[in-house]
Amino acid sequence: MRALDFKDERIQPDVTEDDLAALQPRLDELHRQLEEGRGPGSDFLGWLHLPSQMTGADLQEIENAARRIRNTCEAFVNIGIGGSYLGARAAVSFLGHAFANQLKPSQRPGPEIYFAGHNLSSDYHADLFDLLADKRIGLNVISKSGTTTEPAIAFRLLQQMMERKFGPREAKQRIVVTTDRKKGALKSLADQEGYPTFVIPDDVGGRYSVLTPVGLLPIAVAGIDIAELMEGARFLEAVTRRSSRLEDNPAYRYAALRHLLYRKGKKVEILAAFHPSLDYLLEWWKQLAGESEGKDQSGIFPASVEYTTDLHSLGQWVQEGERIIFETFLRLDHSSRALEIPEFSNDRDGLNYLAGKTLDFVNAKAYEGTARAHRDGGVPNMTLTLPERTPAALGQLFYFFERAVAISGYLQEVNPFDQPGVEFYKKNMFSLLNKPGYEKG
Ligand code: PA5
Repeated sequence: MRALDFKDERIQPDVTEDDLAALQPRLDELHRQLEEGRGPGSDFLGWLHLPSQMTGADLQEIENAARRIRNTCEAFVNIGIGGSYLGARAAVSFLGHAFANQLKPSQRPGPEIYFAGHNLSSDYHADLFDLLADKRIGLNVISKSGTTTEPAIAFRLLQQMMERKFGPREAKQRIVVTTDRKKGALKSLADQEGYPTFVIPDDVGGRYSVLTPVGLLPIAVAGIDIAELMEGARFLEAVTRRSSRLEDNPAYRYAALRHLLYRKGKKVEILAAFHPSLDYLLEWWKQLAGESEGKDQSGIFPASVEYTTDLHSLGQWVQEGERIIFETFLRLDHSSRALEIPEFSNDRDGLNYLAGKTLDFVNAKAYEGTARAHRDGGVPNMTLTLPERTPAALGQLFYFFERAVAISGYLQEVNPFDQPGVEFYKKNMFSLLNKPGYEKG
């Protein structure tokens, strides 16, 4: 398997090898704390060894359900918010065709894939219902708590639509639920209605759940090889478990660098991708980092850009704005399909100097030029390169960030596995909505 590559030569002089060496004993201790389950939030460490512990039978069960869905559905709607949808969306966007839903069914490996219940927009959902009206649909409702308002509303609306369209009996056969083993309104509903269910393990929190059925079922339905995805994650689990040494463990090195940069006043990390297929990976990472670290009036603010698109927009700010940022470039070593720039005899557009070069070649030069310019402009940066656009590479990336964010949170001395701040808006909203039990705000 080709491994992820992490490089940090453009971090100096902001962080030196001496700074890193001084942090090594603390990292060694935090590594032991994580592996032995002694740190804050240790009830939520199920994700840590998920790749090595998941069995072939577990994957087969998910694959069987996915095959049934592929055989009976033209469109598959995943209802969930936060950690209950971002991982799947990241994988489907990264590994699928950029215009998958617009292709003919024979041109893609699974049904059209949609997402709902991750906002409260009336128009988004009404427009989605228009699109689904004539299709054979399958629904996948994902909520660990089983009580989250946004997906619950979307499910109610889609359930009504399905029952009107297919009748209650067939509608039931087109719904799958992924939720807690025992608790929550969704679990009770699934039991009453007899919906097939997948379980989110008790010890895996939402944003660390992409490698459970939360992410794996939609990913498999999209025709992506989930065994290969897990193999990639398993590879990174082994690499990061073996040693906490900064020269051997790229996830810890990344975590240590971002922590040291933060301590030196670089309060914002920009994750910058060079391919639109990585857009939702950026969203997934922002949720993982933001919910894990934004605590006790501290924590790096995770932001993202898509280059080269944003070089014609936020690039100006990155180059010359307030120097509170550092950048992590997320690159793809090579695309799945190479496009070569043609030679024109008249050269009216002046592009013949690039004739015969691939778009990947030009994109790589754009990256190099940007990384140097931003370093010269006072933005320390590092680079994570995905070797290829494959499930194995993505599995490595998911696990890399999960490990890195857990250790970053511990370096920051917060619990990276809870999200107490998320409850505040809910209390106000419920009170304003007169939800029973919340009437007096
Ligand atoms: O990471 C988290 O725990 C959250 O972002 C949740 O995934 C999100 O709030 C959705 O929660 P639930 O799956 O309970 O509906």
